[in-house]
Amino acid sequence: MPLEQLFDNLWTQYIVESPDAKEIYDLFVAHGEIVVNDHIAIRTFDDARVNIKVLGRFFEDLGYKECGEYNFAVKKLYAKHYEHTNDETKPKIFISELITSEFSPFVQDTVKKLIDSIPRTKLNSSELLYSGTLWGELDYDVYQKLLSESEYAAWLYVFGFRANHFTVFLNYMTKLKSVEEVNKFIKANGYKLNSSGGEIKGTTADLLEQSSTMANEVKVKFKQGTYSVLNSYYEFARRYPKPDGKLYQGFVAASADKIFESTDVTTK
Ligand code: NI
Repeated sequence: MPLEQLFDNLWTQYIVESPDAKEIYDLFVAHGEIVVNDHIAIRTFDDARVNIKVLGRFFEDLGYKECGEYNFAVKKLYAKHYEHTNDETKPKIFISELITSEFSPFVQDTVKKLIDSIPRTKLNSSELLYSGTLWGELDYDVYQKLLSESEYAAWLYVFGFRANHFTVFLNYMTKLKSVEEVNKFIKANGYKLNSSGGEIKGTTADLLEQSSTMANEVKVKFKQGTYSVLNSYYEFARRYPKPDGKLYQGFVAASADKIFESTDVTTK
């Protein structure tokens, strides 16, 4: 599958359950802005059948290379980012994985069973990236038990393989020049921003400033009935040049850590 097709498929799936992203994208376009994606974030488990290495390979096959790596000790996550080898306008890909061995036998056992139930043919295709849940009917008790240990594990259980979020690359915008202006524009249009750790995560000294909307709530069908669950948010990033004059392309773990909380039901 060509890269642009893969991005289209990820975006199409993402905006169904994060409709604010499409509405804000449309507002930017109507405002005369150029909307380029800074990065697409993808979540997975560290199981060798679906881990970062496996998902990253799909992007490597399409011209990407592995760049930075990140540790989120409290959330027990590990992440890597990938950049396109020769096109800076292509979004970076940020893939994180849950370190399941650091959780209870229940989590480890549940994750193994989920991955066991994925059809083999799905595991070898980049379609896996936007195939959602591949483990049949969802059980609300399992969701609650996962949630008590890890919001990330519970989110993956309910939403499966998909883009967790897309991020607008503010450096390409021509009118809304700062993160503050973008935040003001978004709030004036009636959307809420994640204010965990302040509306703007990161500083010019970090070479990366980010903000994000609060996650959209979606109705999810479980064996026991339909419940509201937070899906995901839309993110905005502005990057600053390194001493060599090139824009910093990495991520700031402390800021990403705060942004993960946009989908945290406990800090809503
Ligand atoms: Ni992000």
